[in-house]
Amino acid sequence: MQVLTRVEEVTQRVIDVKRSGNRIAVVPTMGALHEGHLSLVDRAAGLADFVIATIFVNPTQFTPTEDLSKYPRTLEGDLEQLRQRKVDLAFVPGDNEIYPRGFSTFVDPPEIARSLEGTSRPTHFRGVTTVVLKLLNIARADVAVFGQKDFQQAAVIRRMVKDLNVPCQIIVAPIARDPDGLAMSSRNRYLSPDDRNKALAIRRSLLKARVSILNSPGQPSAKISQLLRDELTAAGIQEIDYAVAVDPESLEPQSVVTTPVAILIAVRVGTTRLIDNELIEANE
Ligand code: PAF
Repeated sequence: MQVLTRVEEVTQRVIDVKRSGNRIAVVPTMGALHEGHLSLVDRAAGLADFVIATIFVNPTQFTPTEDLSKYPRTLEGDLEQLRQRKVDLAFVPGDNEIYPRGFSTFVDPPEIARSLEGTSRPTHFRGVTTVVLKLLNIARADVAVFGQKDFQQAAVIRRMVKDLNVPCQIIVAPIARDPDGLAMSSRNRYLSPDDRNKALAIRRSLLKARVSILNSPGQPSAKISQLLRDELTAAGIQEIDYAVAVDPESLEPQSVVTTPVAILIAVRVGTTRLIDNELIEANE
């Protein structure tokens, strides 16, 4: 696996790869890799001839209240894990490589970036769309793989790619979970054993909502939100940012729940903010 830090070097490499008629897949990450990221890399390997993983802690997607300097950085371990998978190139740029002096062009994210995560983190998706578009361009990616765990992020990126005619296919891979059901996240390392135990209520509540929606179609959405909140608060989770049933594409809240539907949750457990979701397809 080649490790490159300069855009220019990546450009040269991908031109050669394309010239040989190969398809390129990219998996953008912010490092602190776990099995969830690696499952995206594995998926990418099945979709293209040449896999690029990027590791860049993107400063522009952190809001002023979030501490960029505290984001976990485990570069050596990350590269070691990528070496064990079918990754051809790891792109690990510094801040100045992505945002050189004079950089001033940003992607204005789509409407669907305003609600949910966008409410508590107003400038977050502007940073995400900007860096993702740059990474897709740098990698000249035919396909890019993102995780379903960041449901709104995936929807925002899909919309951006469609709206801006970016010639890259977006694949959203299923949520990777620990055996106890907790969605894998680089933030899980901050959970105390007690917090972790509480956090299991997130998945439990999503599964309860799934059963309820499938058993009694056409329920008011408020009822599902209440079911989620009851399960979360019973486990001692008091800070709930949102627990909602929305249309999976527009992310508009549903008044009456009909499939397809995405159930989205964001909570704080101890000092750690966690998100998770469950997608129920039409005709399940
Ligand atoms: O999901 C992430 O880790 C980041 O938001 C992404 C897509 C790598 C952009 O910085």
